[in-house]
Amino acid sequence: MSVSFNGKHLEQFVSANEYAALYPQVEVAHNLLESKSGPGNDFLGWVDLPRDYDKEEFARIKAAAARIREDSDVLVVIGIGGSYLGARAVIEAVKGQMYNSTGKTGLQIFFVGNSISPDYFQDILDCCKGKRFSINMISKSGTTTEPALAFRVLRKVLEEQVGPEEAKKRIYATTDRARGTLKQLADAEGWETFVVPDDVGGRFSVLSAVGLLPIACAGCDIEALMAGAETGRQKFSVLSADNDCYKYAAVRNILYRKGKSVELMACYEPNFTMMNEWYKQLFGESEGKDQKGLMPTSVIFSTDLHSMGQFVQDGARMLFETVVDVKNPGRDVFLDPIEGNFDGLNFLSGQNMSVVNRKAMEGTILAHNDGGVPIGVIQVDSLSEADLGELIYFYERACAISGYLLGVNPFDQPGVESYKKNMFALLGKPGYEDRKAELEAKLN
Ligand code: PA5
Repeated sequence: MSVSFNGKHLEQFVSANEYAALYPQVEVAHNLLESKSGPGNDFLGWVDLPRDYDKEEFARIKAAAARIREDSDVLVVIGIGGSYLGARAVIEAVKGQMYNSTGKTGLQIFFVGNSISPDYFQDILDCCKGKRFSINMISKSGTTTEPALAFRVLRKVLEEQVGPEEAKKRIYATTDRARGTLKQLADAEGWETFVVPDDVGGRFSVLSAVGLLPIACAGCDIEALMAGAETGRQKFSVLSADNDCYKYAAVRNILYRKGKSVELMACYEPNFTMMNEWYKQLFGESEGKDQKGLMPTSVIFSTDLHSMGQFVQDGARMLFETVVDVKNPGRDVFLDPIEGNFDGLNFLSGQNMSVVNRKAMEGTILAHNDGGVPIGVIQVDSLSEADLGELIYFYERACAISGYLLGVNPFDQPGVESYKKNMFALLGKPGYEDRKAELEAKLN
């Protein structure tokens, strides 16, 4: 049982009766999802993806990854939001945050096009200088400003470095199956393409080519990732009051309705940092609409106990915590006693550092509980590919059920367009003249 949800530290905040009272709504949400009759029902391709994924494309992904690992020193992955977070999250969880410096992927992997910072971009260009590099451009629409800008520049650098013909073999485009400018360009230029399925939205796309190609390039086992996700699909798609995924979704909504407006995702493994970022997009974009929704936030403990710990313990009582308890760290450190015991910590010696980390977690859970913070615990055996696959499915399914319980369409993101319109207007994009004048008047 590698992924489960433990509600022990919620007991004083959410009673069994409350869960029983909400459960009929969970049934409705489950049926909406299964019958594909709820809001956003044209974006449910992720539901059975771990079973129904395109096996032919999967084999091409593995072949492309092997080629990139053979002919490149660096892979630059271009994408933003759902076209970036999942891949980076899995790579860092499996290989570690420091994978580029420790050489754990055997290939340096950099992510660009997820901001418009010229300084950050120049740093990545510097990392590509003199190296054999390939590009994976990921954009379902093909027109998102951040990745499109990065791609323009990087493509030119690559073509100048290896010549236009060789560059064609080093550009991989992950985009819409048939539509969009990137698909047209890729076909015209002869770049290998991979598909963002029509019915899978960006934030649910990590188990499609969007995530799988970069993840495979990092040397991760994508077969195990998909097998783990399939385990999750079978386990968490069952309509039952004992379904841990549905319990988690229900508890979030019970606490939200009781006035908790923030969910704090906490993990004691820094390598989980980007998984937290992925979770924030998944739930934030899915639920934050119609002036509703829990605000997803995250911390890495014990690091952030020294920054956010005070607030969580004793600040405004607006949040609940969801702890991701990773049972087995990838590696451990044995603590030897030191002569003189100058720091007074010899009582910790003779055991592994993971024990100290676990006691920090247990002590913090109890302290935060005493401070009035409800805490649910998502338990996961490890950050292996298989366990992450299961965890990803757990989150995706919980997000869909939670969104339906909240009464929103969990699969659209209309609010994301507002900043784009203003940015285009201020930059003078043709057709936005009136808006430009209006916005500039407000700014000045
Ligand atoms: O979840 C989403 O839909 C978004 O985060 C998109 O993935 C993001 O905006 C990138 O879009 P695109 O892949 O079209 O460039």
